[in-house]
Amino acid sequence: MQTQNLKMNDVMDNKSNPLDILSDLLDQDMNQVNALIIQNMRSDVTLIPRLAQYLIMAGGKRIRPLLTLASTAMFEGPMEKSYHLAAAVEFIHTATLLHDDVVDESNERRGQQAANLIFGNQASVLVGDFLFSKSFQMMVKSGSLDILRILSNAAAIIAQGEVLQLSTTNDIKTSISEYIKVIESKTAALFAASCEVGAVLSTRSVEECKAMRNYGIKLGNAFQIIDDTLDYIADQETLGKNIGDDFKEGKMTAPVIFALQDANDKEKLFWERTLGDKNQSKNDFEIAISYIEKHKSIEKSLNLANQYANDAKKELNIIQNNKYRSLLCDLSDYVLSRNF
Ligand code: IPE
Ligand code: IPE
Ligand code: MG
Ligand code: MG
Repeated sequence: MQTQNLKMNDVMDNKSNPLDILSDLLDQDMNQVNALIIQNMRSDVTLIPRLAQYLIMAGGKRIRPLLTLASTAMFEGPMEKSYHLAAAVEFIHTATLLHDDVVDESNERRGQQAANLIFGNQASVLVGDFLFSKSFQMMVKSGSLDILRILSNAAAIIAQGEVLQLSTTNDIKTSISEYIKVIESKTAALFAASCEVGAVLSTRSVEECKAMRNYGIKLGNAFQIIDDTLDYIADQETLGKNIGDDFKEGKMTAPVIFALQDANDKEKLFWERTLGDKNQSKNDFEIAISYIEKHKSIEKSLNLANQYANDAKKELNIIQNNKYRSLLCDLSDYVLSRNF
């Protein structure tokens, strides 16, 4: 992982990573999306823009709206129409982050204190609901029932995924396939919708729309598996989120599921106590990491993410090559080496 991080930093210094290149290429379009984001978080109820701004202005990678813009640009579709959709996608994402930090009892997000710590759980949940509703108003502007169907399905699937995750939390019998079901719903569904709407807006063939959807699902799965490894091994400052939160909550993510597959009796008892019963003491996170290292669970998780990233790339084969297609291809490698 160390070498991967080093490679990543080199790439970042050169500003040549595909996410930065996409941001530069789509800079004008992203400005329009940001303007819509700011416009749509306005409300007479001042707590709404205060809380929403607090999170939105703290940055974030904006990977999902960039996927919508890039897929529209790749298909030479109507860019202006994609702005509302890109903003809607980022609003759905922001809403899920507000809710997620309450559910996960997280206290750091985007390098600053999580909104729930500053404004409280109730305000975070309610402003999350506001952003969800606003995202629907923005989707409707596309005038396309297909697009409304894709994005509203994604919103329902994300919520379902978060609930499914709740029922696998603290259950050390959770399998890799159940874990994939969770991440495909809570994370990949929005990546898929972000990509698919660009193709649908550009009135592309059923096959191309499906390819973009599948690309998004696989990219999203790879992205979340990496997120779940970062929760154990990242540099906290670079990540901008607290590490160790998943362990603390008893979340059944790839690194622990792999460690459990090869666990001896003593290790099984450890996982049962710390994750199953959430009975943890000071050194337990270090012990968890030592078992994860012993069973090469980070490598196994990275391999799994790598498979999804490679499959994501293959989905793009049926699409005519241009610079956006190449960048989306490169993006699937980039999500594997990201360290934030
Ligand atoms: C965080 O998403 C939630 C996950 C799906 C892991 P991002 O890593 O895209 O968060 P920001 O928007 O860049 O902060
Ligand atoms: C992502 O899962 C949550 C959603 C997509 C709603 P995580 O709980 O792992 O995300 P972080 O780590 O808090 O960003
Ligand atoms: Mg979380
Ligand atoms: Mg996480």
